[in-house]
Amino acid sequence: MKQILEVNDLKVAYGAIQAIKGIDLKVGEGEMVALIGANGAGKTTTLKTLAGLLKPSAGQITFDGKAHAAIKGHDLIRAGLALVPEGRGIFPKLTVHENLEMGAFSRRDGKEAILADIERMYATFPRLKERAYQLAGTMSGGEQQMLAISRALMGRPKLLLLDEPSMGLAPIIVQKIFETIREVVKGGVTLLLVEQNARLALQTCDRAYVIDGGRISLEGCAKTLLDDDQVKKAYLGE
Ligand SMILES: Nc1ncnc2c1ncn2[C@@H]1O[C@H](COP(=O)(O)OP(=O)(O)OP(=O)(O)O)[C@@H](O)[C@H]1O
Ligand SMILES: [Mg+2]
Repeated sequence: MKQILEVNDLKVAYGAIQAIKGIDLKVGEGEMVALIGANGAGKTTTLKTLAGLLKPSAGQITFDGKAHAAIKGHDLIRAGLALVPEGRGIFPKLTVHENLEMGAFSRRDGKEAILADIERMYATFPRLKERAYQLAGTMSGGEQQMLAISRALMGRPKLLLLDEPSMGLAPIIVQKIFETIREVVKGGVTLLLVEQNARLALQTCDRAYVIDGGRISLEGCAKTLLDDDQVKKAYLGE
């Protein structure tokens, strides 16, 4: 399997606080990989670093065969990396439609292809179509999450980084969003998913990493981890 992402001995610090203490992880093309862990374990820090928002203090990241450090800022998006941040990060004062257009800013394949993709997002989430000209900040949490994912997909990413997509949402909306995430992966996008809801993440993904205090404490097939006593006790409330 071709690796789309390889992380070696990654360390990230906030000033004197070492949040990530040397982690290794790999994501193969087409895989769904989960990163689970308790509050403060370092999940968001890891995703932000992968998205180029934080600079590692040590280690290497290889994305799609290239040294991540050599790709600057917005070029990471153009290279195929998209982050849907914790708290969604949509533009509240822009309409749904404008948010989707913004998601395509790095593309150079023309207006028609972009509009066709916006229509595909509307077909996936009819709720967004109904609300195309509503200000994004006035939408419900679930609608905003649908928009955040759709906006990220508008950049035609190879690797989608999702930070807590289920946060604060009703179970039925979570189900809908996870169904869509699975379809997106079937359509050829690779997924690295961060979730507090460890059960859902492990049920959704192929493989998983458990992060604890800035280190990877366990890794393996998601199904196997669902049956792991340590995981059950610490993360599944069993
Ligand atoms: N801007 C910051 N400045 C200083 N420390 C930070 C900053 N952001 C995060 N940290 C610290 O880094 C550690 C990892 O935080 P991070 O946000 O990555 O955790 P997380 O696993 O995403 O947690 P959660 O499940 O609560 O979202 C925590 O100890 C946190 O307090
Ligand atoms: Mg977080």
